[in-house]
Amino acid sequence: MFHISFVCLGNICRSPTAEGVMRHKLASLGALDHVQLDSAGTGAWHVGEPPDRRSTAVAAQRGITLDGAARRFRAKDFGRFDLVLAMDQSNLRDLRAMAPTEAHQGKLFLFRRFDPSAGPQAEVPDPYYGGPRGFEDVLDICDRAADGLLEHLRTVGAL
Ligand code: 4NP
Repeated sequence: MFHISFVCLGNICRSPTAEGVMRHKLASLGALDHVQLDSAGTGAWHVGEPPDRRSTAVAAQRGITLDGAARRFRAKDFGRFDLVLAMDQSNLRDLRAMAPTEAHQGKLFLFRRFDPSAGPQAEVPDPYYGGPRGFEDVLDICDRAADGLLEHLRTVGAL
């Protein structure tokens, strides 16, 4: 079993969207028993809350269910995951500062590095204080990056 955690700031918009999109794709492939998915936030403001209703609505329009309760990413979580995928550079910096060892640092990447339409430093932009378009963009980005991530999982033999 391969373990992936998606990490943003609040764990209510981007990371639950990334997790939901990826789970939807794995389910379509009948591959849910090969990969275990998780999401978390670097911040604690929304701990215990369900995904933001704006994210949930955009996902639902595409037949994707978002669920879970927000939790904060902890340094000890690095031990549980093969990949820890940050949504933006700020999340990546916070996670780097938290990663206890070189081995843990090696599990840490920007999620969008798997989006073939984006550069290696590209981010999933924070939609929280913006309009509805930002949430659509997050879904589109997650959709492309998740396809690239699936390709990566095939390459490393996880699928
Ligand atoms: P997320 O979005 O990191 O994609 O879950 C945010 C959610 C909440 C806040 C910021 C971003 N906040 O400042 O409360």
